[in-house]
Amino acid sequence: MHKYSIIAFKRTLVIISLALASRAYRCANEDDCSLNGICTACGRCQCDPGWTSDDCGKLDLQPATRWTGYNHTNVTRPDYYSAKGGNSSWGGQIVRDQQDNSLFHLITSQFARGCGLSGWRPFSTVIRAESRTGPAGPYHYAQELFGTFHHNPTVVWSPADERYLLYSIGIDAETPTHCASYKWSNNISVSSASDVRGPWTSPQLVTNGTNPAPWPAWSEEAPTSQIVLAVEDNKIFTANRWDDGTYQLAQTMSWNTSDYSDHWTEDPFLWRDKRGNWHILCHWMIDIAVHGVKYPRVGGHLFSRDLTGDWTFKLQEVYNTTVHFTDGGRTDYYRRERPKLFFSDDGLLTPMFLVNGVQEFNSSASYTLIQPIGDGA
Ligand SMILES: *[C@@H]1O[C@H](CO)[C@@H](O)[C@H](O)[C@H]1NC(C)=O
Ligand SMILES: *[C@@H]1O[C@H](CO)[C@@H](O)[C@H](O)[C@H]1NC(C)=O
Ligand SMILES: *[C@@H]1O[C@H](CO)[C@@H](O)[C@H](O)[C@H]1NC(C)=O
Ligand SMILES: *[C@@H]1O[C@H](CO)[C@@H](O)[C@H](O)[C@H]1NC(C)=O
Ligand SMILES: *[C@@H]1O[C@H](CO)[C@@H](O)[C@H](O)[C@H]1NC(C)=O
Ligand SMILES: *[C@@H]1O[C@H](CO)[C@@H](O)[C@H](O)[C@H]1NC(C)=O
Ligand SMILES: *[C@@H]1O[C@H](CO)[C@@H](O)[C@H](O)[C@H]1NC(C)=O
Ligand SMILES: *[C@@H]1O[C@H](CO)[C@@H](O)[C@H](O)[C@H]1NC(C)=O
Repeated sequence: MHKYSIIAFKRTLVIISLALASRAYRCANEDDCSLNGICTACGRCQCDPGWTSDDCGKLDLQPATRWTGYNHTNVTRPDYYSAKGGNSSWGGQIVRDQQDNSLFHLITSQFARGCGLSGWRPFSTVIRAESRTGPAGPYHYAQELFGTFHHNPTVVWSPADERYLLYSIGIDAETPTHCASYKWSNNISVSSASDVRGPWTSPQLVTNGTNPAPWPAWSEEAPTSQIVLAVEDNKIFTANRWDDGTYQLAQTMSWNTSDYSDHWTEDPFLWRDKRGNWHILCHWMIDIAVHGVKYPRVGGHLFSRDLTGDWTFKLQEVYNTTVHFTDGGRTDYYRRERPKLFFSDDGLLTPMFLVNGVQEFNSSASYTLIQPIGDGA
């Protein structure tokens, strides 16, 4: 090509790419920004801290630090039935101590006797671990809150009750003399305590189902004692009080939530943001539906202006199974589930850390990974 035609060609390329850029994603309203930001006059999303991408539909994840979170999979004890699981855990919730600002608690599921994730039913217990080194940990075992079989804990502070509410699944059960897996129906119970160390009230049955995700409807303007509870398949229940015994089904998603459908999810985590919009982060099981494997597209996000309104689920991943570490390394996990967020406590609810239950390839152990989000963390 002649020199001038090369320049002209390059100019054309620049013009084409500018034209493509201006035809790039444009928003018309906040829904187009996943309710995680605002839509500016020029049609671009301005994402809230912690969220990124054109439509603010991705978590702005930062490198994690190895051996933070709660990873005690290398522990073994003489009374363990297996050396494979160690003190395996599976996700968890970070709670900042109310009296002692520099103390963080992690409430998580831990499997007894080294039996690991595959022995979750009946070997799961609910434990509390502590960190003096910030919300990312590392956390150290502190206390068993509920013995076998108790699993899937979520903890919220209820301002109306001035108590912590702990939703979980399971019943008190003896464990067998070897690692095994039981098939039981799941059901959700609630306990409460004024301190995360307990004493906790005995679990009271709330509803059949699994994956409880509570959020108090309380706000300073409307100090209600109503509790909102999302469960598997993103069904949403409400109760006038945490302990009133009648959790009513308030919302079922309009799409096909069946196993193997493209909207197949589990492990919801529900919250209401600073603008009053509702969100759910969940484990999206699209790869199982499409390829029969558990990776890599695993984080889903749903949002709605009203709890019982029109929810949107855009079928795109909020995060995947790749985690970058501060040592420059990267781990692609086999499983990354049970998402939970830890928010800033300045009233803005900025997501600061993402907590997941993770399992590496070719390992039967599992642990709790905590990854920083955005600049705030
Ligand atoms: C977790 O612990 C296992 C050893 O049991 C180790 O191989 C793995 O690298 C650790 N992962 C992280 C992220 O710390
Ligand atoms: C488990 O790993 C941690 C972190 O590397 C280490 O401090 C600890 O000594 C290990 N424990 C065992 C039993 O190998
Ligand atoms: C492992 O779990 C047991 C409870 O089953 C606890 O007593 C022990 O302190 C834990 N060890 C570590 C290193 O987390
Ligand atoms: C609750 O779950 C347990 C264990 O999964 C089961 O044994 C029990 O029958 C269930 N209870 C109800 C009322 O469904
Ligand atoms: C809960 O499950 C149990 C056992 O499967 C069943 O007997 C009961 O009718 C269910 N209750 C509700 C409210 O669905
Ligand atoms: C829902 O999805 C499942 C799995 O793909 C499919 O078998 C079922 O027919 C769908 N149901 C409806 C009502 O479309
Ligand atoms: C996860 O997504 C990132 C891009 O956001 C990509 O670089 C990475 O390869 C993906 N991980 C897997 C396992 O596909
Ligand atoms: C897991 O093990 C299989 C063989 O058992 C091997 O082919 C595969 O590469 C391993 N995967 C990883 C990520 O190590």
